[in-house]
Amino acid sequence: MEKTPKTVKESATVTHDIVHPGDANSYGIAFGGYLMGLLDKAACIAARRHCEGKVTTVGIDGVRFFRPAAVGAILDIKASINRVFNSSMEIGVKVTATPLEQTETFDVCHAYMTFAALDSNGKPTGIAPVIPETDDEKRRFAEAHIRRESRKKLKALYTGANTSPEKP
Ligand SMILES: CC(C)(COP(=O)(O)OP(=O)(O)OC[C@H]1O[C@@H](n2cnc3c(N)ncnc32)[C@H](O)[C@@H]1OP(=O)(O)O)[C@@H](O)C(=O)NCCC(=O)NCCS
Repeated sequence: MEKTPKTVKESATVTHDIVHPGDANSYGIAFGGYLMGLLDKAACIAARRHCEGKVTTVGIDGVRFFRPAAVGAILDIKASINRVFNSSMEIGVKVTATPLEQTETFDVCHAYMTFAALDSNGKPTGIAPVIPETDDEKRRFAEAHIRRESRKKLKALYTGANTSPEKP
């Protein structure tokens, strides 16, 4: 059955956190694994809102840590669906920080996370298309396709398989 398309903003998600000492490494800055957990949770919420069902993390690409966030910083985590493929979707996620006793915000890290939608048997299932509306959403939609094709080509280089667009 055809699933009803949704706009990006229908599932766009913003979550918040604060860096506590237990989230920091020995230099007093947010630990990478803690930040990855925040990215994964925000992406999961966006994915579930879009699919209205069960989802799971399949892969993570393009992780980049820009600047350290120290203990006390308030973090904003933004996630939105970049593109839906068949049973998978790419979600762009970014963390920004506002340090303790400051108002200036800066980028901490970002990633492109792929989630699959699962049916009641835990098998990948089709996802409703996403409709990009703004210029940024349209750019991310186009770039997500390039990333997917690049991933397939890289995999083919490793395995010597063909690069047919039909093969994941
Ligand atoms: C996700 C899972 C159900 C996929 O099952 P599978 O039989 O391997 O299914 P497929 O190979 O058809 O892959 C499913 C989708 O993921 C995509 N995919 C697979 N590997 C990928 C990767 N490395 N990066 C991005 N997308 C990937 C496929 O292209 C496919 O998407 P499409 O239908 O839109 O083309 C299975 O691998 C799984 O359960 N993994 C563990 C998930 C998990 O534990 N996550 C952490 C906790 S949330």
